[in-house]
This record gives sequence, structure tokens and C-alpha cells, in this order.
Amino acid sequence: MSQSPHPALRTDFARALGIDLPILGFTHSTEVAAAITRAGGLGVYGIAHDEPDQVPVKLTELRQQTGDGPTAADMMIPAGMPEGETLESVRARLPDEHRRFVEDLRRRYEVPESSHRTFFNSVLRTPEYFEGQLQGLLASDVALVAFGVGLTADAVTRLREAGKLVGALVGHPRHVERYVDVELDFLVAQGSEAGAHTGTIGTMVLVPEIVQRSGDIPVLAAGGIGHGSQIAAALAMGAQGVWLGTAWLTTVEHSHGDHATGPRLQQKLLAAGSGDTAITRGSSGKPQRQVRSGWTEEWAAPDAPTPLPMPYQHALVGDLMTAISEHEVEPLLGSPAGQGVVWSRRIEPVADVVNRLVAVANEALDRLTPPNFEPPATR
Ligand SMILES: Cc1cc2nc3c(=O)[nH]c(=O)nc-3n(C[C@H](O)[C@H](O)[C@H](O)COP(=O)(O)O)c2cc1C
Repeated sequence: MSQSPHPALRTDFARALGIDLPILGFTHSTEVAAAITRAGGLGVYGIAHDEPDQVPVKLTELRQQTGDGPTAADMMIPAGMPEGETLESVRARLPDEHRRFVEDLRRRYEVPESSHRTFFNSVLRTPEYFEGQLQGLLASDVALVAFGVGLTADAVTRLREAGKLVGALVGHPRHVERYVDVELDFLVAQGSEAGAHTGTIGTMVLVPEIVQRSGDIPVLAAGGIGHGSQIAAALAMGAQGVWLGTAWLTTVEHSHGDHATGPRLQQKLLAAGSGDTAITRGSSGKPQRQVRSGWTEEWAAPDAPTPLPMPYQHALVGDLMTAISEHEVEPLLGSPAGQGVVWSRRIEPVADVVNRLVAVANEALDRLTPPNFEPPATR
């Protein structure tokens, strides 16, 4: 860290985690997650795309890259996933209209065949898959686990019994009601501006409401955050920290590895403004904010079929998505990204992103607070 953080950034939640900055960063790259922690925040490694046998491998990699700092992970257990099915059995029953639409996309945009196996073209989300992933987390030394889309009370209990801090992303006040009987250690209030699966309520409206409803449970703010002043705003709304996803996509560390942002996608993200994202159900079946592309436009076209629910849409489009990303096929190329993509202006190391966030948050907090400000205990 090049600047010492303003005292207001030393929140109780950050202190409890043993980190200097209340900045949590979600990513599918172990290298990025480790770099966030080394820069003073906490990198949260998303295991959604890791098959159960890969989870221990990835978490070991994460530990080695992180050094002595804490590690954290994120998974999802969406409700209603089919039991006892395979990708093949589901694919065999996909509607003809949908299949034709996807084949037509492939033909019109001249997308070459995919050459490798990815989560998207070879895995079906099932309860068995999630249980396998959970076992990997239980056996690991991650200090914190967050649930993205959905959770089960059983998974939360088992993780807490294993000594992990467990939290959940919420995009609507009703999620807080739904989790009232589940013992959670923190919540991430994720506003609609966020990249990937998202709701309809803006961050500025959602955060104070979730803070108010959550009682003693600490809340982190997420969705569209990429400028240090927004960290000051999040703290002012009662959040104990922030949770960022989009900001890491254009880092040096994210330009290699399994989920690398390739050069054409990097250019698309760097060029995108706050108005250049769109919500589509075309990738996973659930509303997902992505950088606007031919893909988001095609699925929004009047003649496009209504996307199928999760996990069937993914079974439908997973191979095409793999091929588009492998061959960087313009203009279909895209990525989940939030409206805060406007703050991604150059490819730079994770540490530079974190340092700038802190420097700008410091300035914002200095503007708001007298020089000798001592923050009151927030909880
Ligand atoms: C490329 C990408 C992939 C994501 N995948 C997941 C995921 O697998 N699980 C999850 O809980 N959140 C996921 N998210 C959402 C983040 O956890 C976070 O809530 C969101 O990015 C915050 O908003 P921001 O993108 O505006 O910073 C993803 C976000 C991005 C940008």
C-alpha cells in the first residue's frame, strides 16, 4: 500500500478479517485474488467454474500465491437445479427453436469450433456438483466463504462449523427475509449496477436499506464501485466495506490464466462507458449484466427465443460461448461487467487499482471529515 488509509477505512469488519483495507475483490483468477490480498484487501476466489476435483488444486494455488494473508472463496447454490441429469441428457431435450437460433448465430458470425473443455461446454449445474465443490471448501483453509446466487442452510452451517466466516450476496430486501433463519456473518448488498447476475435495485438505494434490515450483521456494498469516492459513500451509508468485481478484469494479472481477459476483450472493456452494459439472460438463464455486444443484442432481438431457465440456457449456449471467447469472435465477444467499467481505463497491476482506490477514498474522506477525526465504533 503506497498511502496509509484514512482511519475511517479501518472498519470493524476489516479488522476482524485481519486486513488493512475494507476492499473485497471477487474474481475467477487465483492470481488476481492473491494480488488483492497482498495489496491490503481480501481477494475472494470464485469457484463457480471449477469442477469438484479442481477446487482443492485451485485453493492450494491461491494459498501459495497469497503468502501468509487470509484467503476467501465464493460459490453459488442456485435453487431448482436438476438432480440425476447430465449435460448430454439435458442437451437432448433442448427445444428445436432454441437450437436453431444458436446454430444460426454460429453460422452468421462464422464462429469456429471450440477446441477445449470448459465449464461452459462440459458441466451441468446440479446439486451433486455443488456438494463436491462444498467439500473442497470445507477441507481448505479459506477464512471466508460468500454465496453468490443461492445457498442452503446446511452448507452455511457446515462451513461455519469448520470455522469460516460465511456471507451471502443479496440484491433485494426479500433475500434478507429469506435468509433470516440462516446464520450469516455478513451480507453483500449488490446493486443492479453490478457485473454478472444482478437485480433491479440501484446500489445507492439498496445499501442503506439492507444495512437497516440486517441488524448486527455487517454489510458490504457492491455494484458499480470503481472510484474511491464510492468507498467513502459506501461507508457513509453504513457499509463496513466494498466488494468489487469488474475492476479486476482489466488488470495485468487477469490477462493470463484460465479466465484471462484476452486482448480484444480488454479493448472492449477499456473503451466501454457507464452506459455500455446491458442485462441479458442469454448466457446463464438468469439476468446478467455484461458489456454490451452482439451477443446481448441478439438475445434482446424481437425474433430471439426467450432464454431458457438456468441451467438449460447454459447447456444450450455453453459451447458457442466457449468458442466465441476462445477465438475472440467480434462482435459477439463480451464478459460480465458492471456500469463501473467506466473506471477501467488502462491495463494495470491489481496493486495500482487498489492504491488508486485508497488514494481517492482518502481524498473523499478528508473532504468530509476534520483532520483529527476518530471514527466512532460502527457496530
Ligand atoms: C466477470 C464476473 C464474474 C462474476 N462471477 C460471479 C460468481 O461466479 N459468483 C458471484 O457470487 N459473483 C460473481 N460476480 C459478481 C461479483 O461477485 C460482484 O458482486 C460484482 O462484480 C460487483 O459489482 P461490480 O462488477 O460493479 O464491481 C461476477 C462478476 C464479474 C464481473
